Amino acid sequence: MKKKLLIMTGGGDCPGLNAVIRAVVKSAQYDGNWEVYGSIEAYNGLMTNPIRVARLGSTEVAGIHYRGGTIIGTTNKGDPFQFPVKQEDGSYVKVDRSDEVIRQLKKLEIDAVISIGGDGSQQISQQFFEKGVPIVGVPKTIDNDLSATDRTFGFQTAVEIATDAVDKLVTTAASHNRVMILEVMGRSAGWIALHAAMAGGAEVCLIPEIPYDIQKVVERLERRYKAGKGFANIVISEGARPKGGSIVSRKSREVGYENARLGGVGYQLAEELAEAGFHEAVRVNVLGHLQRGGVPTAFDRILATQFGVRAFELVRDKQFGRMAAVRNGKISDVTLKEATAAYNFVDLDNFLVRSARAVGISFGD
Ligand code: F6P
Repeated sequence: MKKKLLIMTGGGDCPGLNAVIRAVVKSAQYDGNWEVYGSIEAYNGLMTNPIRVARLGSTEVAGIHYRGGTIIGTTNKGDPFQFPVKQEDGSYVKVDRSDEVIRQLKKLEIDAVISIGGDGSQQISQQFFEKGVPIVGVPKTIDNDLSATDRTFGFQTAVEIATDAVDKLVTTAASHNRVMILEVMGRSAGWIALHAAMAGGAEVCLIPEIPYDIQKVVERLERRYKAGKGFANIVISEGARPKGGSIVSRKSREVGYENARLGGVGYQLAEELAEAGFHEAVRVNVLGHLQRGGVPTAFDRILATQFGVRAFELVRDKQFGRMAAVRNGKISDVTLKEATAAYNFVDLDNFLVRSARAVGISFGD
């Protein structure tokens, strides 16, 4: 009898998820001893009545490698260890439903689980592993903020989209002699902003790792205008903040959504520029979820496929409690504990940061 493998995608979606799913299903078919199932919307599929679990075979995964999103859905509101349950008075109380998930896995006779997700999802994977669930992780995030892997798939796609936006803003900025501010995603890591600023040739790049001094930003812009270039481009990461200031965020009203919602720092920057005495025309563009949608780049499809294959190998070899990773350019794996131990901030000694400074990009410091 074939063994049963359950796969799920959790947290925010990311280009390349479908390529991982396809690679797992195809690896399992090639091996010949496994059937693959998908839990719809991560663990939520196991906690609803009736449960939502779909068989994944050749038909389901055919041609999905270049499709954005995830064919099995995702959620960032379904932590089974802290699941929001509605009370009679309309309020919500967090309940630990992890044992219910484990019972369901047993009932379905699942032999292994592959969870594709970012740091939050992999912390949940570690908790299930500690409770005896045979689980393997696959890292995903456009933010590239997991330190246990050199890269996550989705990041390069997001950088391409952000760079394309900078390229487009350059032509309109030049036509109107304007400063264009582009706000990009990345949470507490400035990787997307840094890459897009360099690839797009921006004059200023503001990232969470370097709180900016607005006077320094103004100086850089004025230098450019004085040099006769009557326009400039700024890429700002959603998690950036001025020196002594705080990040622009708001609490979500969505039940069970634990993350602060970032966004809006680009508009704040435009105000700060005006208040600091910079009077050229400024326009703000917030790129938002466009960075997460659409077709993954070839690089991300290839990385995602390799992660899917490695995750299946870990399952086949009973190497549970581990996560696929790329280290020093080679596909390998790390423990789930290592996977979430440290956040991958932009390292300020990184050659990319030095190169950015060398080509005239100001970080506002
Ligand atoms: O972590 C990926 C990411 O896109 C961040 O860059 C961004 O801050 C966040 O998710 C947005 O989350 P949501 O899709 O829940 O609004």
